[in-house]
Amino acid sequence: MTDPQPDPNAVAPTVKDLETIVSLSKRRGFVFPSSEIYGGINAVWDYGPLGVELKNNVKRAWWRAMVQERDEIVGLDSGILMHPQIWVTSGHVAEFNDPMIECATCKRRYRVDEFAGTEDLGPKDLLDPETVARLGLVCPNDGGPLGAPRRFNLMLKTFLGPVEEEAAVVYLRPETAQGIYVNYRNVRDTARKKVPFGIAQIGKAFRNEISPGNFVFRMREFEQMEMQYFVRPETAADTFEGWLPRRKAWYEAYGVAPERLRFREHRPDELAHYAKKAVDVEYRFPFGWKELEGIHNRGDWDLGRHSKESGENLEYFDQATGEHFIPWIVETSAGADRAAFTFLIDAYREEEVRGEKRVVLGFHPDLAPYKVAVLPLLKKRPEIVELCHRIKDDLKRHTMAVYDDTAAIGKLYRRQDEIGTPWCVTVDVDSLDDGNVTVRDRDAMMQERISADQVTRYITDRLDAARPHGL
Ligand code: GAP
Repeated sequence: MTDPQPDPNAVAPTVKDLETIVSLSKRRGFVFPSSEIYGGINAVWDYGPLGVELKNNVKRAWWRAMVQERDEIVGLDSGILMHPQIWVTSGHVAEFNDPMIECATCKRRYRVDEFAGTEDLGPKDLLDPETVARLGLVCPNDGGPLGAPRRFNLMLKTFLGPVEEEAAVVYLRPETAQGIYVNYRNVRDTARKKVPFGIAQIGKAFRNEISPGNFVFRMREFEQMEMQYFVRPETAADTFEGWLPRRKAWYEAYGVAPERLRFREHRPDELAHYAKKAVDVEYRFPFGWKELEGIHNRGDWDLGRHSKESGENLEYFDQATGEHFIPWIVETSAGADRAAFTFLIDAYREEEVRGEKRVVLGFHPDLAPYKVAVLPLLKKRPEIVELCHRIKDDLKRHTMAVYDDTAAIGKLYRRQDEIGTPWCVTVDVDSLDDGNVTVRDRDAMMQERISADQVTRYITDRLDAARPHGL
């Protein structure tokens, strides 16, 4: 299923330099470094007023496609902390490792697979001490010698209860999936679901990444949007193939350019410990083609092991055929932060309008933090300001709307373009006489006069028309 990509640079990213996105995010209030007044904490990021809207909209769009519009998938919200045995049974305690390497002089640590030349190496080679010498690897920070690679477990631990001892150790979940597996029987029985059916969950996950970076691409605290689909074993392969185009289509429907998306199948030696087959949806980030979402055929690995270790019967009884079996699982696993980041990057464009640079975030209207801004042409006229607030307050009953009068109209338009607001409504002196206002479209920059009474209907109709269905 890997798409042919002979030249990795054949497809250009929307922005050459990630810094463009990082500075816009900070300047406009999408993303801030966590704990900034204390010097920050590596690989944790906070979402500002616009970022939290964007990310909530991404999660809502995913939930709509995966739960709301499907009959056979239901939702779940399980705890971040779970019985520690779950992570032993799932294989994460033993297997959830990255090959790590340390500089002998500055003591910095790196993931071996992030060095140039290691792209095609399997886990055995990545842990082979010969690899360092063979590839001539040295510390990127100070050129110092690198030690032998070793395994580094990515799970974060804490203590539950008042005693800090080994017996009280619990893990912060590194994936939301396990919360679904251990609730599989509860959900199946209470929602009266028959195979094939799915369980979806959005929630935080934590990984002690060795070399996080590229802004919110790789974080230590992040959110996943995962769906586990329970099927008859013999249908798992076809179900897996069926989810691939559906998941890619979801990103496209919300505005990501198809040429900056591709599939990449994992080689047998890079498969995660639970996976029989895995295909990533990759996006052309400014720093290369990288994983956006993973689709996995997990076989009976999870339910089989949980059944054995817990002693509970997790078999499914098929009344039609009289068979008992452990369902196989097809998983779609996306990152909410990575998806929001992708929509943000892909929406970015610079244009020249009447000799001036215009920066636009061309978000799909469903993802845009604000759907509409209401702007007065003359803020000194109280009747104009009052009408603006009336329109904005009515809009707010349905959607995110904002009033702004802190600059001249041209500047207010540019500001809304830069945060991706699809429509601006302007109230002027004529509005007071004829009751009409101007609606300006972000992309076409066309202006239309409509009745002030019709603004809410106009915006909600357009939002409805733009919303993708049946993904
Ligand atoms: N349950 C399967 C699983 O967790 P994964 O490929 O390790 O699979 C799935 O992770 C998705 O979670 C990734 O495609 C990515 O979008 C997101 N993700 C994983 N690690 C992340 C990190 N450190 N920071 C941000 N997102 C991450």
